[in-house]
Amino acid sequence: MKEEDFFYVNNILHYRISDKESLSFDFLKGRLFNRLKRIEHESLIKKAIGKNKVKLKIFDATAGSLIDSIIFLKLGHRVVACEQSKILYRLLDDAILRAKNEYNFFENLSFINSDSAKIVDSHLDSDIFYFDPMFKDIKQNIKRSGTLQKIGNVLSLERLEDTSEQIFNQMLNKKYKKIIVKKPIKSNPLHEKINYQVKGKAIRYDIYIKT
Ligand SMILES: C[S@@+](CC[C@H](N)C(=O)[O-])C[C@H]1O[C@@H](n2cnc3c(N)ncnc32)[C@H](O)[C@@H]1O
Repeated sequence: MKEEDFFYVNNILHYRISDKESLSFDFLKGRLFNRLKRIEHESLIKKAIGKNKVKLKIFDATAGSLIDSIIFLKLGHRVVACEQSKILYRLLDDAILRAKNEYNFFENLSFINSDSAKIVDSHLDSDIFYFDPMFKDIKQNIKRSGTLQKIGNVLSLERLEDTSEQIFNQMLNKKYKKIIVKKPIKSNPLHEKINYQVKGKAIRYDIYIKT
């Protein structure tokens, strides 16, 4: 990560990934904003969480662009979101700062820049552990969104690997109530212990419940 590759355009922090592409996040307009407006329609992830009147604590081990975390926040839950990339963290911290006055739900977000493996044990009281690993097939990430492709490029720059699958495997031996893993629809579950699935067209959620 080079400090000189961070720059502002219209008060929005950007990171130069290459001569041709840069990355920034904005929750107040553009693609992310439109997605946030439509969150009421995100029925799949709502089904995966299950009907809940109480405020849950959700540990998002793979924060990425924070979209899934924001869906949880908008549904009224409390979220601890962890992202290992320093670049993503800075860009998102900037986006949160600009959007904070607009959206009260950010009060319920604790956004942490760390390897989730290092902090997950301090959050074993969470009601849900959420994992959205980078899809191994790069084409699937591109299909999911251009932002995910850029996130992949940022991780390569920082020489970071997606290690969420390992953390998920360790998690299975710990105390948990519910684990949700986002997967491409046709892929194999990460573990045979799976309890049930919530399926969409391109992706599905695999749910693990401790019995
Ligand atoms: C597919 S993206 C997540 C997308 C996210 N759900 C969203 O709504 O934008 C996966 C993210 O998990 C992060 N990640 C992978 N392993 C991690 C770990 N061990 N600790 C923290 N973050 C991790 C990656 O850096 C990447 O940003």
